[in-house]
Amino acid sequence: MTTDYLVIGSGIAGLTFSVKIAEKFPKRQVTIITKSNEEESNTKYAQGGVAVVLDAEKDSFKKHIQDTLIAGDGLCDEAVVDLVIKEGPKRFRELLDWGANFDLDKSGKLDLGKEGGHSAYRVVHHKDITGAEIERALLARVHQLENIKLLPHHFAIDLITNHHLQGNIPKQDGCYGVYVFDQKNNAIFTIQANATLLASGGIGRVYGHTTNPVIATGDGIAMAYRAKALIKDMEFVQFHPTALYETDGESSFLISEAVRGFGAYLRNRSGKRFMLDYDQRAELASRDIVSQSIDRELKKTGETHVFLDCTHLDVEAFKTHFPNIYQKCKENHIAIERDWIPVVPASHYSCGGIVVDRDGRTSVPNLFACGECSRTGLHGANRLASNSLLEALVYAHHIFKFHCNHELPTLEVAIPKWNDEGTSIAKEHVLIQHNLRQLQALMRDYVGIVRSNNRLSKAIKRLDLIYNEVEDLYKSSKITTSLCELRNMVNVAHLIINQSLERKENKGGYYNLDNIKK
Ligand code: FAD
Ligand code: SIN
Repeated sequence: MTTDYLVIGSGIAGLTFSVKIAEKFPKRQVTIITKSNEEESNTKYAQGGVAVVLDAEKDSFKKHIQDTLIAGDGLCDEAVVDLVIKEGPKRFRELLDWGANFDLDKSGKLDLGKEGGHSAYRVVHHKDITGAEIERALLARVHQLENIKLLPHHFAIDLITNHHLQGNIPKQDGCYGVYVFDQKNNAIFTIQANATLLASGGIGRVYGHTTNPVIATGDGIAMAYRAKALIKDMEFVQFHPTALYETDGESSFLISEAVRGFGAYLRNRSGKRFMLDYDQRAELASRDIVSQSIDRELKKTGETHVFLDCTHLDVEAFKTHFPNIYQKCKENHIAIERDWIPVVPASHYSCGGIVVDRDGRTSVPNLFACGECSRTGLHGANRLASNSLLEALVYAHHIFKFHCNHELPTLEVAIPKWNDEGTSIAKEHVLIQHNLRQLQALMRDYVGIVRSNNRLSKAIKRLDLIYNEVEDLYKSSKITTSLCELRNMVNVAHLIINQSLERKENKGGYYNLDNIKK
């Protein structure tokens, strides 16, 4: 298959770019591939909302910029912060134009919420299911555009670069498209593209305990890494402080930070509001600080979780703002007006990723990246809550503008077909499952919120064993999604551990016991 624009991923980043470029160039073909149902993505589960400055009296760009820089702990790219925040309102209004609905307050103005690290009310939201509403509106727009072809259940295996061309290297260098696994028909084919956009989302599943859905296996970052793109800041894995604690220890429904913005308290088992001991902003300190404080509290007390206390809040108002969270708690026999909600930190967001410039260009020509898989410099060492959806909207626009101002390159290359000679169907699925469990346990226990050089060095050694076994399996087996995802997660784990070892100073979400100044 050939296409003008290939977009890998159907979350906010991929869909926003696709809508814009398809509307501007109705004669050009946009192809979106996505590995699950069309709506499945981290975007679909976003709760809190989009941080954007809309209240001219009580808020300002200056304040939002300052909050983002403080959260990023000195490692943000200030020019990028300035650009994203100042452009936020324009990009947000486009979402409204495309039909996304956001909650209004009693006076009919957009209702603004607050989350950790924000000094003003500025988070626009659709109840506690903001991402699902954005996804709905964008997909509806996509389906109206005839020049967008959306292929669900199509898994990108690897980017096609010179490495695949068997010496037949053309003058123009870069990315030529992707090898795709059609999951329903069990077939592999190539999509040759004039421009490729990775919008493949996050990495949460590398840790067993995560707020992310099962699609978040870091495929785009791993593919870009194998294609020799520059990847940075992977040590800054963001742990969300308040995932619902469930006794199976795996599933991690998010209790939005907006609930703390609404007035909920964090308490330890003896009832103490412990955050007051750690930061004067208490429950509304930035996410890195709250997660690290909970981790300390748990280590001190030997408990498995802490609690979110909503019992003093107006329950009817809570139900209106957070119907999904209220319902989920009820299903777990937690009546929020009476019971404290058991919560624990879980891996949530990757602040690092594929390095891009202001136009979303990666270091590989013709390969762009947008959204959570990219590293723009906005987040530094720790992302400010609700800045991710915003970043995706702004960068999708910049990549679109780049394409408006530049000719689409013509890439005439002879791409060899996928070669799986000598491979056979893997008979022992247990090898994949076992290695996945090992990897997730390794990352949780050795590469978690608090790290040490000793644990990181041990993690690398253990990861090598997993890597060798998975590579052997990959080379000898026919492609399956779970095998490719495992291989990608091993690559991502390698990046997180190695970039952690390289960091000699604790910053934001990165905390290593050996870096504490004596
Ligand atoms: P995603 O939305 O994750 O989309 C990635 C897409 O790529 C998916 O369609 C996936 O199927 C596809 N894909 C991946 N690999 C492949 C492959 N190999 N082949 C084909 N397709 C592939 N951020 C905020 O700003 N505000 C919030 O309130 C907020 N709440 C959140 C709540 C939760 C529970 C979670 C998990 C995240 C939240 N975040 C929030 C973060 C935010 O949702 C994500 O960072 C953002 O949605 C990422 O968008 P994206 O388009 O980059 O990726
Ligand atoms: C939340 O609602 O707590 C998640 C917000 C975010 O990740 O930005």
